[in-house]
Amino acid sequence: MNRIIVFTGKGGVGKTMVSTAHAVASADTGKKTLLVSTDMAHNLGDILGRRIGSSPKQINDFLDAVELDPDLIMRHDFPDFMKSYEALLQSAGVESEEQDKFTVIPGMENLFSLMKIRQYYESGDYERIIVDCAPSGETISMLKLPELLAWYFEKLFPVGRMAIRMLSPFTKVFMKVEMPRQEALSDVEKLYKTMLELQDLLKDSEVTTIRLVCTPEKMVVDETKRSFMYLNLYHYQVDGLYINRVIPDLADNRFMTSWHQIQAGYIAELERVFAQIPITKIPWYPDEIRGMDSVEQFCRENFSPETIEEAFSVRVRDVNEVYEETRDGYKLRLSLPFAQADEVKVTGLGSDLEVHIGNYRRTIPLPNTLANNTILGSRFADGWLEVEFFADKGGIRR
Ligand SMILES: Nc1ncnc2c1ncn2[C@@H]1O[C@H](COP(=O)(O)OP(=O)(O)OP(=O)(O)O)[C@@H](O)[C@H]1O
Ligand SMILES: [Mg+2]
Repeated sequence: MNRIIVFTGKGGVGKTMVSTAHAVASADTGKKTLLVSTDMAHNLGDILGRRIGSSPKQINDFLDAVELDPDLIMRHDFPDFMKSYEALLQSAGVESEEQDKFTVIPGMENLFSLMKIRQYYESGDYERIIVDCAPSGETISMLKLPELLAWYFEKLFPVGRMAIRMLSPFTKVFMKVEMPRQEALSDVEKLYKTMLELQDLLKDSEVTTIRLVCTPEKMVVDETKRSFMYLNLYHYQVDGLYINRVIPDLADNRFMTSWHQIQAGYIAELERVFAQIPITKIPWYPDEIRGMDSVEQFCRENFSPETIEEAFSVRVRDVNEVYEETRDGYKLRLSLPFAQADEVKVTGLGSDLEVHIGNYRRTIPLPNTLANNTILGSRFADGWLEVEFFADKGGIRR
């Protein structure tokens, strides 16, 4: 199956370098690969040693690279999207002052980058799409947009509810429903469906997985754990951790030996807490990695022909969000590794479930069957949040 692999991590840890190396290594095995940057501060050009623009530039027979410009994508590729969206806001009676609330979602333009990635994927032109992202906070904000926007649609246009929630894991497991045909949909449903399909692609862990890049130092380790938790919260599959800038064991240099020991402590911590995720260590090189020759050299040192295919496979298949049937109804289980019990809060608001952790909140649209049903209770233990719902199962087609 064609793949989308998304690299993120704290600022400056080596995301662009690691993602570029993966794209180059992938192309070297004869797989048609697209390297995509969604970071507004693009720097694929710096590392590849040539100018990359907003449309795919051929690097070699098997590799193209592109630095996405969301504004341009919006105008060129999806000109109707914002027009329809704004017209719909008006038709829903949303006053213009209030419209800002829905149109000025922070970072909303990044939605167009995701839509473009989906377009590249759907074109079938590329076997692998490697995405170099902005630092973790921005990436997580970007990845939660399709769900957030779908939720706004539902709030504004209750009509959407008929098509809605079809792609939720619950619906997939417990109800056999098909997406309505495109022609049968109103404009609002079409936009809404696009958001669902985008989620479906990005949260399909057979296609899309996230890889975290970090360095062995305290603040980065802490942020990496938080990012992992938030990615789980939003139902994304993380299947790789890269520890970059590992100082080699140079016993003849006191300064380096000291840093080597400090790093060893954090590497041990990362190996312990991310035991279920494949970890790749990358040495700290004496020179910057710049230009194709330098990247090729990096690839020779860090990928072996025997394991190269594995590097692009789906390497973890954790189920991090699951609905289970119980005696009284259903139970939602959500994996939230590294979260503290006292920071996880759950509230039920009619048709949604809200999970808060720290500054993040995920509004999980509940399937119709569970909407407005009583939350029997929730508890957080051993990294799992469990929410139990009462449901009258008479209405469920099996
Ligand atoms: N292991 C390494 N050894 C030597 N230099 C490295 C290593 N990893 C990264 N670098 C260099 O560090 C710099 C920053 O790396 P890179 O641009 O990949 O980080 P980034 O995480 O993408 O940063 P940003 O958050 O700004 O996008 C680059 O000049 C890169 O060549
Ligand atoms: Mg970068």
